Amino acid sequence: MSETEQQSGGGKNQPLRAPRGTRDVISPEVERWQDVERAAHDTFGRYGFREMRTPIFEDSAVFEKGTIETLQSAQKEMYRFVDLGGHELTLRPEGTPPVIRAYVEHNLGHGKDLARFYYIGPMFRYERPQRGRYRQFHQIGVEVFGSESAALDAEVIDMAMTWLGDLGIRSLQLCVNSVGDHDDRPAYMEKLIEAQRSLLGEMSEDSRRRHEINPLRVFDSKDPQDQLLIEKFPTILDHLSPQNKAHFDEVCAYLSDWGIDYNIEPRLVRGLDYYRRTVFEVTSSALGAQNSLLGGGRYDGLVEQMGGDNIPGVGFAAGLERIVLALPEGAGAAPIDCYIVTVSPELIPQAMKVMRDLRSHGLCCTADFQDRSVKAQMKAANRSNAPIAVIFGPDELSKGVCTLKMMESGEQQEVSLEILVEDLHRIVHMADPGN
Ligand code: HAM
Repeated sequence: MSETEQQSGGGKNQPLRAPRGTRDVISPEVERWQDVERAAHDTFGRYGFREMRTPIFEDSAVFEKGTIETLQSAQKEMYRFVDLGGHELTLRPEGTPPVIRAYVEHNLGHGKDLARFYYIGPMFRYERPQRGRYRQFHQIGVEVFGSESAALDAEVIDMAMTWLGDLGIRSLQLCVNSVGDHDDRPAYMEKLIEAQRSLLGEMSEDSRRRHEINPLRVFDSKDPQDQLLIEKFPTILDHLSPQNKAHFDEVCAYLSDWGIDYNIEPRLVRGLDYYRRTVFEVTSSALGAQNSLLGGGRYDGLVEQMGGDNIPGVGFAAGLERIVLALPEGAGAAPIDCYIVTVSPELIPQAMKVMRDLRSHGLCCTADFQDRSVKAQMKAANRSNAPIAVIFGPDELSKGVCTLKMMESGEQQEVSLEILVEDLHRIVHMADPGN
């Protein structure tokens, strides 16, 4: 089957399907996403970050300075298109260039003030899909503009680790490195290219291609044979200028001082070319091959390249799908407190009135107003996992009462509508004291 057919289905008699590399996020998974997003709003807010929402597509030029040279096969990976007006647009493959574009466009730094932003949203890369790697995926990212201080790099890393820790993700490894800048890169690159040239014959085809495009990217190869060769290459960390070395040492000193566990990984270069000095990545052994939960670093120079002043920047982005995969079991859908059952359809208006009242008092309730038998409604109540069914019958309603049925024990009791809210709160709280 051709990829086009496979992607969209929809041929004659073929069921319609989501495009290849995209996913529907359905309850109870979607509640896990919400938990992750809520924790990001909380944690990042406490660190003084403000959310920014940028368009999902941008003029293609936005990604030409940073991303194009960076995503190794960026030309192929980007979703680029020309709209009906002839504009060259690209679905954003990452959040950093759009945030920089907005920062410059709206003069958000007011000259030299520190500006802290975070974003949550879909990104698009035409990659080969596998578990944890999609064509439409979601990033939660942060960017800070305005300071070269190592304290800021450390603070951003600290915020990432606090957020992941608060989410209960335990098996985390933080790797840090410095990739230097224009002071130390040229001399180092010469040495690296020379070392790679002498081993080209033993490298995988993919790495030979990476060597041509950007020799640093050979470090990202997962090929076992390449891994052995990579051990022999000189590392940038051993070739840092004294000031860049001091900057990196200061980042590490902060992390050590705050008790944040980290490994210095001299071969960590990250896939994006715009990084200068600090780079970092957080992986989790809870994930498979795509184990990078989050990555980031400093990108001094990129704001200027994109038409702004010479403002330094640092940030990171995490893959939301991967964070959700790494979350501990248990987090999930908000429970339904009670399921409303009506004995006959004429009672629906009264039942709905009660339901509105329950909801306005913080109870989560649902119902099925389909004129189905009580038995069918009770089965639906069971499937909803609500601990209580609230049953409305004509006789009861005329007396101002309803029946509560405990789904687990089958026990039933009549309750006056006047104290229904209190009673339900009491029962729900007894069943789940954390509620
Ligand atoms: P990145 O390493 O390309 O960096 O992506 C960051 C994170 O996005 C990865 O660690 C991974 O969790 C997730 N991710 C990337 N590609 C996919 C995919 N195809 N499917 C699922 N998840 C994926 C950046 O994007 C930089 N803009 C980060 C940054 C912000 N650096 C400084 N500021």
